[in-house]
Amino acid sequence: MHFLITAGPTREAIDPVRYISNHSSGKMGYAIARAALEAGHQVTLITGPTAIDPPDTARLIAVTTAAEMYDAVAEHITSCDVAVMVAAVSDFRPVETARQKIKKSATDKSERLTLELEKNPDILGSTRGAMGFGGILVGFAAETEHLEQHAQDKLRRKGCDLVAANDVSNEEIGFDSDDNALILLYADATRENLARAPKAVLASELVKRISRLAIRRTATDSPATDTRTARS
Ligand code: CTP
Repeated sequence: MHFLITAGPTREAIDPVRYISNHSSGKMGYAIARAALEAGHQVTLITGPTAIDPPDTARLIAVTTAAEMYDAVAEHITSCDVAVMVAAVSDFRPVETARQKIKKSATDKSERLTLELEKNPDILGSTRGAMGFGGILVGFAAETEHLEQHAQDKLRRKGCDLVAANDVSNEEIGFDSDDNALILLYADATRENLARAPKAVLASELVKRISRLAIRRTATDSPATDTRTARS
């Protein structure tokens, strides 16, 4: 199977020296890429800027902004069977990027500077349409409150087969930690807890479950199991 995985943060430039980003380290996404490769799958890893070494057997596409990540996913998704969107994509970007460094003197009378932001495209939200219903679509939900409720909402809204939810308000399993704990919510309304463990262990458990979903999907789609074909 061919896995497309997004990982890491994106960066949205404010001016040539500043950007908007988040605390994502890329560790979970890279761990999933490694686990998929170890399980014998092909991997296309589309990654925002991180400080960690990617697995060298993956096809690596390095991007900076959400718009670049969106374009890279659109280009590669049709050749993939599974998409696992682990990247912490910046939801907003500055409407304009200043061409020169913004000086402190740019503040108004109340010593404030206002940045106008616009929404970035929702990469995961647009993937189901691009990959069709044959592909397996997996999202992540990093939340600080109402974890399951928000994750359920994302599962439905973004057309996912599976959403892995994690509580980033818990520093022990947060963004830069080596451990994580996941609640897996499936489209058939079942759920599963993966207790706290190193990200590499969770990644391999997750890849096993995703492979099972993909095999089941292929079996359902296969003409051999299509009762109309079997009867004719
Ligand atoms: N995601 C994405 N593109 C975006 C935002 C999010 O592909 N522009 C993906 C993430 O990779 C993750 C999932 O969507 O798999 C959930 O991301 P999250 O930031 O938690 O969700 P949002 O859609 O941004 O929703 P909200 O802001 O309401 O939390």
